Amino acid sequence: MRIVIKPNASDAADTCAALIEAALRKTPDMALGLATGGTMEPVYARLRAAHEAGLSFARCSSFNLDEYVGLAGDHPQSYRHYMQQHLFDHVDIRPEAAHLPDGAAADPVAAAAQYDALIGRCGPIGLQLLGLGSNGHIGFNEPSSSLVSRSRVKTLTRKTVEANSRFFGPDETPPHLSITMGIGTIMEASRIVLLATGRGKAQAAAAMIEGPLSAHCPASILQMHTDATVILDEEAAADLA
Ligand code: F6R
Repeated sequence: MRIVIKPNASDAADTCAALIEAALRKTPDMALGLATGGTMEPVYARLRAAHEAGLSFARCSSFNLDEYVGLAGDHPQSYRHYMQQHLFDHVDIRPEAAHLPDGAAADPVAAAAQYDALIGRCGPIGLQLLGLGSNGHIGFNEPSSSLVSRSRVKTLTRKTVEANSRFFGPDETPPHLSITMGIGTIMEASRIVLLATGRGKAQAAAAMIEGPLSAHCPASILQMHTDATVILDEEAAADLA
């Protein structure tokens, strides 16, 4: 595990976006694994700027980590909508090559299995971008998730539902189920880049990097990956020994 610590969140996002841009320039037809969330917004802003400066997404495919069950792609809080808004609508990625799990599927369990199979057919994912939950989750693989799990329907913990509720209106019930890439699926990516910023991620970052390998901190599995880079700002690195 390679650890990169930057002075602030902006510099950390710069480093993360630069790694993605370099990978895409080197292998334009790569399969790119993408994440959503507040941490990634500045990364996508930088990728949009890189596109304006000539970076093309036309030959790549993308696979997002997760999607809420019960939200159609046009729901403003769906991860499909997030991706359209922050990246896909602004770059030249082919719409049919930009994949997310189908949160609106009539049979979410089957949709999750189909998503895993699709990644298997189109993969391996060349670079998988990850954020970090304050409880140590990656994708929506919450604490106690099997470290060899495949893509599947997962119940979100109360902590995650609460953390995400800031994105939903006062009259809306935030979803309690998701389809997420499994930890085993994520670990098959050739390369992993995790970005975590802010004091709220410090405990989870320390558990991921220095703690025992444990399903209680799903991100700790990255200790076993042969090409994982963790980018932190100083606040997220504050609890490292
Ligand atoms: C989102 C995802 C999640 C987030 C994590 C951090 O696709 O997979 O694991 O990366 O919850 O979210 P933020 O960046 O909002 O703190």
